[in-house]
Amino acid sequence: MSSMDLCIIGSGYVGLVSGACFAEVGHKVVCVDNDPKKVAALQSGRIPIYEPGLEDIVHRNVSAGRLRFTDKIEDGVDNSQVVFIAVPTPPQPDGSVDLSFIEKVAREIAGVLKEYRVVVDKSTVPVKTGEKVAETIKRYNRAGAEFDVVSNPEFLREGCAVADLMKPDRVVIGSASDRALALMKKVYEPFMAPILVTDINSAELIKHAANSFLALKISYINAVSAICDASGADIEKVADGIGADKRIGRSFLNAGLGYGGSCFPKDIAAFIAISDALGVPFTLLKEVQRINKDQKERFLKGLRDALWVLRDKKIAVWGLTFKPDTDDVRSSVAIEIVNDLVKEGAIVTAYDPKGMEKAVEWKMVEGARLVHSALEAVEGAEALVLATEWGEFANVDLQEVKKRMMTPMIFDGRNLFDPATMKDLGFAYKCIGRSTV
Ligand code: UGA
Repeated sequence: MSSMDLCIIGSGYVGLVSGACFAEVGHKVVCVDNDPKKVAALQSGRIPIYEPGLEDIVHRNVSAGRLRFTDKIEDGVDNSQVVFIAVPTPPQPDGSVDLSFIEKVAREIAGVLKEYRVVVDKSTVPVKTGEKVAETIKRYNRAGAEFDVVSNPEFLREGCAVADLMKPDRVVIGSASDRALALMKKVYEPFMAPILVTDINSAELIKHAANSFLALKISYINAVSAICDASGADIEKVADGIGADKRIGRSFLNAGLGYGGSCFPKDIAAFIAISDALGVPFTLLKEVQRINKDQKERFLKGLRDALWVLRDKKIAVWGLTFKPDTDDVRSSVAIEIVNDLVKEGAIVTAYDPKGMEKAVEWKMVEGARLVHSALEAVEGAEALVLATEWGEFANVDLQEVKKRMMTPMIFDGRNLFDPATMKDLGFAYKCIGRSTV
């Protein structure tokens, strides 16, 4: 395999993990970020996000001279054959995507472009963004240098981003240029993954369509979980039964409090806005959103039904992150639940293995008391809400939990525990779509 010189603009989840993994397979990578504080932290070996395995890979590749960080875009573009854009594409109030960071980076690349480069969009963007990026670079590139724009959406999941990047199910490359395609294939050769070559528009659409389909799967199983609750069927058995059909598959059929995070809520809203703008409204996705919201409301109703009044009740919440194995608390249903309970006057004590620092830094759970362990959180509690299925919670000493609680009631929003075991242990236990006691 021949090593390539790559530049990644934007050192967030996607940019940083991609850069580190590209270096890990032997490429020479320069990561560019416009936040000098972040660059300084990375240069001194501090990783701004928690992602299993990432720190080791970054340190190893920095030491090997394959990975470095800068805040100068010109340094990155000058010294790379392929330039990846991995900057945020946040939502606007109406759900449509704010593309101003992409547009700004396209102008900046154009300003320093001196010879042929492949400019790759890795950020999640609406279909037809590649066309705009190409127009922008052409307009602002006074040197008239040649370039190609490619779409290469990223499918990594937070919490297992390194594994997803090192062993992707597929790599999607949208390109209209053979020259660019040849270079992109060289970039991905070491990963030995299936490569799907498409036009740029299709590649862009694949990303929104994939995330929307996964969210749809989650809302589907959550809607079925409501029917299980009403009928006495068991959602875990139902999910196993339908998931065993290879055409359906068992993954993303875990009923719970609904999807959250920095991708699904934003991307589903974006796909709705994109389809509206194209004159082909995708109304099914509005139902996906509605079911997702209802799932949390149904859970809270269960809590109210059991506790009667929430005001002044001591409620422990386990979990703040939007899923386990990450420190990301953006658009987390767990955070929403903490704030809903606080708003209703409950006295909330919360604990999360990795998410508390960011929750405090971003002032996301100001009405709750954060403590340092799962057991400390349940001290004197009248109910425990499990909002994120961290492995640490699955292994907790439940006898000790019961001893510390004032009344042993557990509301499990992620179906982490087995109802029969919980009954034997003497808990009043309520979960999602399963017969409980
Ligand atoms: C998601 C996609 O899975 C990635 O492929 C994609 O690259 C990424 O968005 C992105 O667009 O950047 P991520 O948001 O990191 O990844 O996390 P997921 O594992 O997909 O979980 C999303 C949410 O769905 C979480 O809140 C999780 O708790 C929930 N979920 C997931 C369920 O409620 N049930 C399930 O069965 C699976």
